[in-house]
Amino acid sequence: MLTVLDNAMETIRLRQSVRTYDPARPVGETERARLAACMAENRVGPLGNTVRFKLLDLREVSREELRQLGTYGVIRGASLYLLGAAPDRKGALEDLGFCMERVVLEATALGLWSCWLAGTFRRASFARQMGLAEDELLPAISPLGYAAPGQNFIEKLLQRGGAAGSTNPGMSFFSPQTAARLLARKKPAATRMPWRRCAWGPPLPTASPGES
Ligand SMILES: Cc1cc2nc3c(=O)[nH]c(=O)nc-3n(C[C@H](O)[C@H](O)[C@H](O)COP(=O)(O)O)c2cc1C
Repeated sequence: MLTVLDNAMETIRLRQSVRTYDPARPVGETERARLAACMAENRVGPLGNTVRFKLLDLREVSREELRQLGTYGVIRGASLYLLGAAPDRKGALEDLGFCMERVVLEATALGLWSCWLAGTFRRASFARQMGLAEDELLPAISPLGYAAPGQNFIEKLLQRGGAAGSTNPGMSFFSPQTAARLLARKKPAATRMPWRRCAWGPPLPTASPGES
């Protein structure tokens, strides 16, 4: 299995946003442990601020709380969320962005999809789950999980607008290992670029980036 540091550029190219997750396929303990380790390793940003992360499993919150934890219909089917908190201090947002992207990329390397959310989530409810201190902000969250086949309305809209998947249309049909191999080929013949067909096919992935 790839880790971000093993193959950073490939992992970056492989990542793309997913908003519709498979509720029948929760993230396993091994992946959670790897994410937890990555979260612990990435607590201080390049500008010196200490940030905090939490993996929130919606299956573990009360039914009453669950009703409050919404994303305005943007994200569907996800049960695991990465929450990122930062002190309300100069440079802390940049530090959070840096550290959180590192965790998001680790998730990608583990075969999980993600979607940065800084606006379309019910901040007060997620902040309660984060146990936010008075001098802290909750700038962003991201669902983490396996994609469900099909897209939700927002995904379709963004796809038409060209916002989603612009990073890497189609490469995510392949495992990171396969994708890395394909990307490593110099001057590949058209027949050796199977991701080309993906540009003409369904724009969002139906399989995990970690599935081979
Ligand atoms: C910091 C940040 C915050 C974002 N906030 C939201 C959001 O609140 N809601 C949303 O639908 N997309 C949001 N997006 C956009 C998506 O996460 C995603 O980046 C965009 O659809 C492009 O897709 P791609 O990441 O596959 O290239 C945000 C992106 C970034 C970088």
